[in-house]
Amino acid sequence: MSIISKDISKAIKLLNNEELVAIPTETVYGLAGNIFSEKAVSAIFATKKRPSFNPLIVHIGSKDWLKEIVTHIPEKAQRLADVFWPGPITLVLPKKEIIPDNITAGKSTVAVRVPNHAVTLELLKNIDFPLAAPSANPFSSISPTQPEHVESYFKKDIKMVLDGGPCKSGIESTIIGFEDDEPVIYRLGSTPIEEIEKVVGPIKIKNKKEVSPDAPGMLERHYAPKTKTILTDNLTKSIKSHSDKRIGLLIFNDIHNDDNIQFKVVLSETSNLDEAASKLYDALHQLDEQELDIIIAEQLPDYGLGKSINDRLSRATKS
Ligand code: TXA
Ligand code: MG
Repeated sequence: MSIISKDISKAIKLLNNEELVAIPTETVYGLAGNIFSEKAVSAIFATKKRPSFNPLIVHIGSKDWLKEIVTHIPEKAQRLADVFWPGPITLVLPKKEIIPDNITAGKSTVAVRVPNHAVTLELLKNIDFPLAAPSANPFSSISPTQPEHVESYFKKDIKMVLDGGPCKSGIESTIIGFEDDEPVIYRLGSTPIEEIEKVVGPIKIKNKKEVSPDAPGMLERHYAPKTKTILTDNLTKSIKSHSDKRIGLLIFNDIHNDDNIQFKVVLSETSNLDEAASKLYDALHQLDEQELDIIIAEQLPDYGLGKSINDRLSRATKS
């Protein structure tokens, strides 16, 4: 029997009972549990096979809850919350004592966001605790953007995927930390950096090496298909050099001559980056099911959401 269901009251019961429920958000599905339940939080780490040093994001139902969770809200953090929440921005701020150490992997900061999905906002309104929720995929594999992706990963491990349809944005939230009250990007994501800069001015992106102590989840290899995958800015050349193989293509718009290609996914016929982001992970799931020798992914334009998509593709293709 399928574990996918629209029954919010069942989800509430399970969560109140310290069990896990996969929940829809605008970015990706999350594997959610009560932040105050040690049992639920340990189950999140065990189910995902996630290393315990990698902290979780706390999901709240409204920005008013932020002050209950963190000790200090820099002016620019408040501005970002006011403009973007509910929405795909996660703020990393100093935690209050009530936030358990297993959520933050012992760190003094906590990551928080208000997800922009009607079903999950309704759920959060009807429980009296925030939800810890990492993306609902096994550690380092492709993130889930449809309830079926979660079911195929975890049908033996959890009782319910709360069905909220396909995720609209399709890549994870942008994570922002603060240094001397100034915002710094820890993880590129669904809110393009250009939009953030309109609100808080020029903002630094931490490179992968700098970020690793702060966001251990920003591991080099992540979001990865099982099939060997490469990223290229020269499709013709890459296809030629693998001409003896079963090739799958992940391309931005459909301009390529596709002789010798076994399977191809076009992210956006009209070169629309929002559409490309929303299709990215499902495209990788589909390609991974085709028994290909290699997936060749095309680099996207390096601005707006293209920058965030390129970040994910570069991690998906690290060996
Ligand atoms: O869109 C999203 O953010 C999704 C949905 C479900 O909300 N969640 C998500 O969670 O992507 P996860 O666990 O896959 O990624 C969370 C990232 C990890 O890289 C983790 O290291 C980082 O957030 N993180 C969590 N707490 C942190 C903290 N206190 N300081 C720095 N990074 C932190
Ligand atoms: Mg993840």
